Amino acid sequence: MARRAIYPGTFDPLTNGHVDIIARACQLFDQVIVAILINQGKQPMFSVEERIEILNAALGPRFPQVVIETFEGLLVDYADQKQAHAIIRGVRSIKDYEYELPMVLMNRRLNPRVETVLFVAAEENSYVSSSLIKEVFNLGGSIEGLVPEIVLKRMKEKSS
Ligand code: PNS
Repeated sequence: MARRAIYPGTFDPLTNGHVDIIARACQLFDQVIVAILINQGKQPMFSVEERIEILNAALGPRFPQVVIETFEGLLVDYADQKQAHAIIRGVRSIKDYEYELPMVLMNRRLNPRVETVLFVAAEENSYVSSSLIKEVFNLGGSIEGLVPEIVLKRMKEKSS
């Protein structure tokens, strides 16, 4: 049976930290669904449509077993609907673990059939977050090497 995992997130924007987690997940799972949360409350840098396009361009050629999708509502319901065996999340620090743990336990309570797998990010990405990337970029700092080329290109286009 093919092992399917879901990697949920906002991905606004996709960083090399996310790509590192996806690469690790691809070694353990036959299919990895990268699922963009549709969050009406947030004011994103990139629209959901733009993020789908960016993620497909950045991940498609490198990871044949990755599928890009969107979801709304409870993650565990979406995981059930997709018949996924696992939810993937990346942790960079103890702070991330503290943020993730309540979600892991709540998701387990809501749906014990879906296991959460926490991947430890590569050291070189341990300080990279989407919010920091946006802040540094918006203030004119260099984010080269921290996001995929396509993300950098799209961010520059947006700001010009
Ligand atoms: O990239 P993010 O913003 O840290 O991702 C957070 C995400 C999408 C994993 C989380 O907000 C989520 O799962 N949202 C879906 C709604 C849901 O199921 N909430 C209960 C979580 S216990």
